[in-house]
Amino acid sequence: MKPKIYITRKLPDLVVEKMREVCEVKMWDKEEEPVPREILEKEIQDVEGLYCLLTERIDQPLLNLGTRLKIVSNMAVGYNNIDVAAATEKGIKVTNTPGVLTETTADLTFALLMATARRLVESSDYLRAGKWQTWSPMQLTGQDIYGATLGIFGLGRIGEAVVKRARGFDMKIYYHNRSRKLNAEEELGIEYVDKNRLLRESDFVCVLTPYTTETRNYIGAAELSLMKPTAVLINTARGGIVDEEALYQALKNGELWGAGLDVYEEEPVRTDHPLLSLPNVVALPHIGSASKNTRLKMALLAAENLLDGLRGEIPKNLVN
Ligand code: DGY
Repeated sequence: MKPKIYITRKLPDLVVEKMREVCEVKMWDKEEEPVPREILEKEIQDVEGLYCLLTERIDQPLLNLGTRLKIVSNMAVGYNNIDVAAATEKGIKVTNTPGVLTETTADLTFALLMATARRLVESSDYLRAGKWQTWSPMQLTGQDIYGATLGIFGLGRIGEAVVKRARGFDMKIYYHNRSRKLNAEEELGIEYVDKNRLLRESDFVCVLTPYTTETRNYIGAAELSLMKPTAVLINTARGGIVDEEALYQALKNGELWGAGLDVYEEEPVRTDHPLLSLPNVVALPHIGSASKNTRLKMALLAAENLLDGLRGEIPKNLVN
């Protein structure tokens, strides 16, 4: 008998077919709408494998319903949406999709840094709104990227890939991480500094740490107050790592020059969120890994992990 699986969002046919060859597949067949919780609660009771996205909260009460569940495969590198400890206790494997999205997410991180520094969105809106009457010396001036100092919180795969891009702009690069990475320091010519020095001396701060209980509000009012008033904060990791209220106050009061955000504490972010009212915020809808190739690779890797787990093998990207 084929194992049963549930997929929480409509995936490309190619990916679904791969799983259908060996599994009995049920899928929430909508692309732009997450599966309602009550449906997920019902479906999880019947399956051995769950293929989910970061939009689903896979918490203990849900896992308790999955009495036959062997594996939860998340189509994302971050897995803060899953209660991994609860899954582990129940002997349920949890997997993610690292590696395949590294370069694409680093591209977006650097693009967001550039867009924020040089006010690309604001400038485009200015032109389209018919406000461009003349060229003028200080009109829509931003911050220089070339030769500036970049500070990176979280030197994982994506952090290192951002460093490579920044080197092309002759940036001085600091990083802060749970552990020092001596090889990376030597290979990439970067310097490990403590958290406060990174905040004080960087022109650009990129947040790239995983979201855990320790990194919740890792950047709050105290941290923001250390940053230069000309500095830019970029967050392409998870919303909860930066305290949004503190960020709003810092940006509004001119303690911080700008912010580029791809992630929010609550997603989708409300369009009346105070941060979205500020012209010095570039806001994107969580598109870090959103290239066609990369999303397909993530979807396929999540399928591979799921199938390995169902076969009783150790999946390539087991997190517990
Ligand atoms: C992830 O994978 O965790 C990203 O946030 C979405 O690609």
